[in-house]
Amino acid sequence: MKKRDQWSSNFGFLMAAAGSAVGLGNLWKFPYVVGINSGGIFILAYIILLILLGTPILMSEMSIGRNTRLNAIDACNKLKTGWGFVGGLGVLGAFTILCYYSVIGGWVLKYLFKYIVSPSIDNPSEYFKNFSESIVEPVIWHIIFAIICITIVIKGISGGIEKISKIFLPLLAIFIIVISINVLRLPNALNGLKFFLIPNLSDINSVSDIFSILLHAMGQVFFSLSLGMGTLITYGSYLGRNSNIQKNSLYIPLFDLIIALLACTAILPAVFAFDLEPTAGSGLLFNTLPYVFDHMKYGKYLAIIFFLLVFFAAVTSAISLIEVISSYFIDNKKWSRKKACTISGIGFILIGIIASLSLGTLNNITIFGHTLFDSLIILSDKIIMPIGGFFICILVGYIWKTKNMYDEMSSGGLFKIYFKKTLTFLIKFFAPAMIIIIFITSIF
Ligand code: PHE
Repeated sequence: MKKRDQWSSNFGFLMAAAGSAVGLGNLWKFPYVVGINSGGIFILAYIILLILLGTPILMSEMSIGRNTRLNAIDACNKLKTGWGFVGGLGVLGAFTILCYYSVIGGWVLKYLFKYIVSPSIDNPSEYFKNFSESIVEPVIWHIIFAIICITIVIKGISGGIEKISKIFLPLLAIFIIVISINVLRLPNALNGLKFFLIPNLSDINSVSDIFSILLHAMGQVFFSLSLGMGTLITYGSYLGRNSNIQKNSLYIPLFDLIIALLACTAILPAVFAFDLEPTAGSGLLFNTLPYVFDHMKYGKYLAIIFFLLVFFAAVTSAISLIEVISSYFIDNKKWSRKKACTISGIGFILIGIIASLSLGTLNNITIFGHTLFDSLIILSDKIIMPIGGFFICILVGYIWKTKNMYDEMSSGGLFKIYFKKTLTFLIKFFAPAMIIIIFITSIF
């Protein structure tokens, strides 16, 4: 039997798992979702759900992975025959996300090269609109982004993923702080800070407002922590028994939250300083930061470094998504790593092309009133990931049983497990109930 890959150290795993968590979800998505969901209130809901939903599910996924040492589908099947569908949902979710994630990864590459060849971007909003709605260019950048990620995953887990994450993550954190400091010195920037740090209750006019914010916050928790789709099962399956799962499940959300808040600090105050719209939606990052770089000394070079770091963040997340899909084909269908990555890659490249075109030429083709691009986002964040998270809780709480999970987490008694009772309550009752309530109210 071929020996299964393993992370070279717990730090390597942490960096890879944090690398999967920290990505476009934090830098591109979080600020714009905060922008369209009334700022401070959303962040409050987000932090509460991060602690009560995100962390216990993160622990559950890692424990399932390390215990079974299998890909997401076979891992769930091993715990209970017939439950492979939970992992299957993950493989489907990973594929769905990749189709649009790679398109945005392509936008990042485009901005990186734009800054390499020119000193600044004139009229950023119009520039972004023209670019993202055009036919050829976004598609080419999407394909380049996809090929880079696929090539890295073909090299295997410790060879590629771990090495990149160890270097770029600390750099990214430092760099966003530098940008944030500059942004906060702009006139009117403090209003932007207030917008997302101080919850404004007058933004809530009805119960449906509350549920709408909760639904977005829940989707964002799952998306940002890479939950509900087997990423952490897969990464956990390469984890050694000398690693402390409970500690890891505190560090990852904490680091992820810090980066997301820093991204808001770099973007939202600038939105107010330059009199832009916080509700601009998915173009917010690309519409706003060019103004900031234009106002900074050495702006062009800072922009190049920034987009390079965002690119790395996107790559380390995208490769964790490809890993979910390919590890299934490698373990279960006995495909070679190369074949598994190439075939899944061709699939998401093709659908990604249509998703990219759906922002411009094909925007008249809609699904329930949404473009293909938006439909993929809704399908992954609001449907597949929460359902996956729900079943993970049921699987761990009622079938595998939390007692066995704690056994795995403690590495056979090596580590002490804290808050067992609270965790059991969260996994068996709170998290599944919360997911169902938010889910059902969103439908009505
Ligand atoms: N968490 C990643 C991000 O924030 C996206 C992702 C989702 C990665 C699900 C893996 C699984 O960008």
